[in-house]
Amino acid sequence: MANKGCTYEECEATADWLLARTDVRPTVGIVCGSGLGGLADMLKDQVAFDYKDIPNFPQSTVHGHAGRLVFGTLKEKPCVCMQGRFHLYEGYPIQKVTLPVRIFKLLGVETLVLTNAAGGLNQDFKVGDIMIIKDHLNLPGFAGVNPLCGPNDERFGVRFPCMSDAYDRALQQMAMHVGQELGYGDFLKEGVYCVLGGPSFETIAESRMLHRLGADAVGMSTVHEVIVARHCGMRVFAFSLITNQAVMDYGSEAKANHEEVLETGSRRAAQLERLVSAIVTKMELNNNNYARVGRPRDAGVPKKTPPNESMA
Ligand code: HPA
Repeated sequence: MANKGCTYEECEATADWLLARTDVRPTVGIVCGSGLGGLADMLKDQVAFDYKDIPNFPQSTVHGHAGRLVFGTLKEKPCVCMQGRFHLYEGYPIQKVTLPVRIFKLLGVETLVLTNAAGGLNQDFKVGDIMIIKDHLNLPGFAGVNPLCGPNDERFGVRFPCMSDAYDRALQQMAMHVGQELGYGDFLKEGVYCVLGGPSFETIAESRMLHRLGADAVGMSTVHEVIVARHCGMRVFAFSLITNQAVMDYGSEAKANHEEVLETGSRRAAQLERLVSAIVTKMELNNNNYARVGRPRDAGVPKKTPPNESMA
């Protein structure tokens, strides 16, 4: 069954397992894209879990994705960070790819910040540019591959969620402003992200087609997570690091490759950390203690046993 391990009760059991092992009550969730896992290192007072130890969690299989869930604080704000995400091309059912987002919701996360590596389609973009995502094209969705396919659990959200406001406009404006203040104006852009299934990179004809359809960047992630986050009422902010130019010209010798993606990520790492940190610091959080519908955040979570008591 495609959504085995993805029911509300199973997500809740995983969230409770995590909440029983950390005192951090995250209101911000961060997803690190390929080569961008260093973002998790910004968190203070870290409590980290390997994905393999978390009940029900998938495993990262991609080089450049560490496979750790890190709790901690960023400028006093409680956060949880996925150091490595899941993709359709790893062979996971789409409900498993997006499972962590629902677990984040049940942990109390209100705002989700997603990052990814992407190929640039917009001819004005350069390698190393950061593109604030203002909208998306869900190509797998055109073929019926959408994480919300199947029975709808109203405890997460409605059957037919709106996506015309998927990317929070106030956060986009704030990020642009913060980026300018940091002196990133020359390489901070905005645009439309298109998701494909991967793992093969695009042909020249495909890149040209996507560009004509209105996409500024192309990648293999993020959109499914955004759909699930919006379905359950989270505020979403996302950006792409343009790690390579999509090949659009039959005369070009350039070839997309994963090494270039990772290398561009490490070159921009410090600036990305500063940008995410500044955005999270400035976010207005709706800090209430009732993130779960009709259920206080710590209901059902056993109190963490103080270390000296467990020795008795
Ligand atoms: N295409 C698809 N996904 C990507 C690319 C690309 O060119 N670069 C990084 N992720």
